[in-house]
Amino acid sequence: MTTLTIEPSTTSLPDVVMPACPIQKLLKGQKALVTGANSGIGRGIAIALAHAGADVVVNYYSGDAAAEEVVEEARRCSSRVYAHQADVSQEDQVQEMFRRMLDELGTIDILVNNAGIQSDALFDRMTLDQWNRVLAVNLTGHFLCAREAVREFKRRGVVPYVSCAAGKIICVSSVHEVIPWAGHVNYAASKGGVMLLMKSIAQEVAPYRIRVNSICPGAIRTPINRPAWDTPEAYQELLKLIPYKRIGEVDDIGRVAAWLASDQADYIHGTSIFVDGGMTLYPGFEAGG
Ligand code: BGC
Repeated sequence: MTTLTIEPSTTSLPDVVMPACPIQKLLKGQKALVTGANSGIGRGIAIALAHAGADVVVNYYSGDAAAEEVVEEARRCSSRVYAHQADVSQEDQVQEMFRRMLDELGTIDILVNNAGIQSDALFDRMTLDQWNRVLAVNLTGHFLCAREAVREFKRRGVVPYVSCAAGKIICVSSVHEVIPWAGHVNYAASKGGVMLLMKSIAQEVAPYRIRVNSICPGAIRTPINRPAWDTPEAYQELLKLIPYKRIGEVDDIGRVAAWLASDQADYIHGTSIFVDGGMTLYPGFEAGG
């Protein structure tokens, strides 16, 4: 009888800084809106789309200077980029943001629903305000922006020299659309909601050649989860949850977003793509069960 021995995973592997791999101009001539794009994953996605040739609207809620810095960076490789302040949970502000985009850029080809917040508390201490605010930004915000985008995609239809699709929506969800998360029930509930929001919209709009998908990041080095990586002790704990043994970087998500928005991914529809170094592989079972 052979016994299967699994070596204990090593935590001494180096963090990998990805080489600046050239992204082809996969999105040339396309107009993209990225919500929550002045920091973290949204920033990385906005810059990656600009690198891929798209014109980009950098939505943000607060932090004008950080938004302008993303605009500067994106402008180095893309012709038209501007920042627009709006709270994605407010219908009038979302509609105004889309009106301006259609005025200034003519249309929208790619929506990246990225804006998201955490407001953590033990369940019995969570206030209604914490619940409502997280659901408002993370779920209602996705609904409001996707609805405006679909209206424009349907009105305009496919423009073959721009893209095979009439439009693309990428929802930035999370591994927590499937991994329950104690102490974060508002956040996990919002991401579970994003999954079926995304899939239900995808089912409905597919005949119009509108593609809708999610990217589900694991632990990515951003301000939202700083306590999980900014001390060596916290980082070692975090690595126990990541089979690939490194934290993710925003570029890991940016590259996937640029590709997923492009015609190279034209037949990908209604799917959640996990970009998580294996976090969803139940790493606790690596040597047990
Ligand atoms: C959360 C992060 C967390 C990661 C993995 C993300 O969706 O925003 O705070 O580190 O999931 O748990």
